[in-house]
Amino acid sequence: MHPLEQLRDDALREIESARDEKSLEAARVKYLGKNGSISAWGERMKTLAKDERPVVGQFLSDARNGVTGAIEQRAEKIRAEEESDALAKIDISLPGTPHEIGSLHPLTQMWERSIEIFRRMGFALADGPDIEDEWHCFDALNTPPDHPARSEQDTFYLPDGRLLRTHTSTVQIRTMESAPPPIRVIAPGAAYRNEEINATHSAQFHQIEGLYVDEGVSVADLKGALEFFMRELFGIGTEVEFRPHYFPFTEPSLEVYVKSKALKGGEQWIEVAGSGVVHPAVFEQVNKARGDKAYDPEKWSGYAFGLGMDRLAMILFDIPDLRLFAQNDLRFLRQFA
Ligand code: PHE
Repeated sequence: MHPLEQLRDDALREIESARDEKSLEAARVKYLGKNGSISAWGERMKTLAKDERPVVGQFLSDARNGVTGAIEQRAEKIRAEEESDALAKIDISLPGTPHEIGSLHPLTQMWERSIEIFRRMGFALADGPDIEDEWHCFDALNTPPDHPARSEQDTFYLPDGRLLRTHTSTVQIRTMESAPPPIRVIAPGAAYRNEEINATHSAQFHQIEGLYVDEGVSVADLKGALEFFMRELFGIGTEVEFRPHYFPFTEPSLEVYVKSKALKGGEQWIEVAGSGVVHPAVFEQVNKARGDKAYDPEKWSGYAFGLGMDRLAMILFDIPDLRLFAQNDLRFLRQFA
């Protein structure tokens, strides 16, 4: 038997008995490494007589190939064994990790229901930033500098003079700035006022702003749209009442009240929105900002409204305290899952 055959057999035996990657690697280094005993024969070849070389060369390559193949096979087997050992340790009879299924916040549900109704009436969604400048929040909405809403008592100002919008009516302005009439949009969002927080008032509340501008839009259109909306939301027996009010950016201005037998405390009128016909001064401000006459008050008219989402959700879901919306108490939230 040629010494190379002997080496190969020794190597194969060691490889076969290797139980892990470490001992397998040790065997590889011992025989095929740079200073390994099979590798050494490669060096020795140079010293052999010419006619011996092919014979020894054949033994050498047989040994190398045989050992290399055996190492690969053994490595594969070791990997498979390790894997099945690891799996065997998993107890599939243990209970799994439960994934809690979330649900939508009642205010979000309220928004989604409302948006769906307005969509059917052809309203598109609009959006604007919560941090606003005074112009979009007040000046453009015909609200002069000495108006009480502009005082720090009522409005959160940032150090740089910007503010947290006190209503979503800012989106009326932003929408008209960026697109010519006709316009039919709703803008759901948060608004902020420096209020004392109690069961019915919060420093952050939620509105859906609406704006419809076209030729010949009147109070009748406004009333029709909001009556339809309230009946879709609260049921067919819902009564809607419009009471005269004042907003600087609408003329006439109307507060919207609802009463519905389907609701708890159904005999009471509840105020749910401010609304009115867009004041011509608002169109003029928008024209100035746009630098054109797109919103010619002689040609176009419109209505706008701001629906109090928190109030609507409180009525619809019979929630007694506004603060519950922000407390993240699961006992409260799970009732709306
Ligand atoms: N922005 C008013 C408010 O928050 C509501 C409103 C919107 C009134 C649109 C008229 C038109 O009280």
